[in-house]
Amino acid sequence: MSEIVLDISNLTKRVQKNKKIVDSASFQMKKGEILGLLGPNGAGKTTTIRMIVGLIKKTEGSVKINGRDLDEEGQACKSEVGAIVENPAFYDYMSGYKNLQQYGRMAKKEIPPERYEEVIELVKLKHAINDKVKKYSLGMKQRLGVAQALLHNPAVLILDEPTNGLDPKGIRELRDYLRQLANEGISTLVSSHLLSEMQLMCDRVVIMEQGKIINVTTIESLNESNETEDQVIALRLNASQVNKANDLLNAMETVTVMEKENGHILVVKTSYDHIPTLNKKLVEAAIDIYAIELRKASLEDKFLALTADGEAKLQKEAE
Ligand SMILES: Nc1ncnc2c1ncn2[C@@H]1O[C@H](COP(=O)(O)OP(=O)(O)OP(=O)(O)O)[C@@H](O)[C@H]1O
Ligand SMILES: [Mg+2]
Repeated sequence: MSEIVLDISNLTKRVQKNKKIVDSASFQMKKGEILGLLGPNGAGKTTTIRMIVGLIKKTEGSVKINGRDLDEEGQACKSEVGAIVENPAFYDYMSGYKNLQQYGRMAKKEIPPERYEEVIELVKLKHAINDKVKKYSLGMKQRLGVAQALLHNPAVLILDEPTNGLDPKGIRELRDYLRQLANEGISTLVSSHLLSEMQLMCDRVVIMEQGKIINVTTIESLNESNETEDQVIALRLNASQVNKANDLLNAMETVTVMEKENGHILVVKTSYDHIPTLNKKLVEAAIDIYAIELRKASLEDKFLALTADGEAKLQKEAE
């Protein structure tokens, strides 16, 4: 059995007027896993994270970190967690290294000098670590924040929207070092409102909407296409033959032509089994086919479908 490092159970935050902004959230994170907390703006991601790291009080529920209850062993739990929730505050006039040292001095246990080198190396900040933080770009500050969060060797890293403000290269590097940490057995909970980002970064995602967890799923199962379902395919044709192909396909019962693209692509919907028949028909009519592409329902579509399902469920419950 895989080890559970973070165990959230019925976590709830109630605010004025009895409104639940996080409502009975339960999920678990395994050792060495990168777990995404995915949801639109206002879903309750930051609130959830703040309760986990003890920045705000939870109303109900429990948080267990490495088997320890946050309420009973708060200090021990905190020593297992490194987090960036709000933008980390640095002393601008000091170097990155001095900032880390300053932070390290506040740790419960003394941080050995090698550990500084390790975290700096990991977030690739060696070249600039002696520069003043006021000269740092947003991405560099973010790396310094991660280095700081990792300094005391936590088992669990929690990052709230860590890719905000990063360029594609920065996002990729973040992904790489989170994966490296995961391989070393460190688990990361990372929130985002972008599915495409979570898809590349995480092993599993917890999908949150209006304070509730509506789905927990592996990235693989989100990626899977269902071969028994209707497929949307795009046919790349010679522009002069598009209308002919269009008429031919429209006459087939099992095919629906959806649109023409750029004058030479036909987007059609058909069952998976019928793709060869369709192809044959076109070839027999002397229509040249340059490519047949399968257009899977995009992940964004699936995510929207999931959240729409979730919304429907929530509405039903409310009735
Ligand atoms: N102290 C509070 N009192 C009342 N409502 C609050 C409080 N804090 C947050 N909220 C509301 O709770 C909801 C969830 O907020 P939260 O910041 O957790 O969402 P989020 O998923 O992090 O969103 P985003 O993607 O925008 O960061 C929002 O509608 C927010 O306005
Ligand atoms: Mg937030």
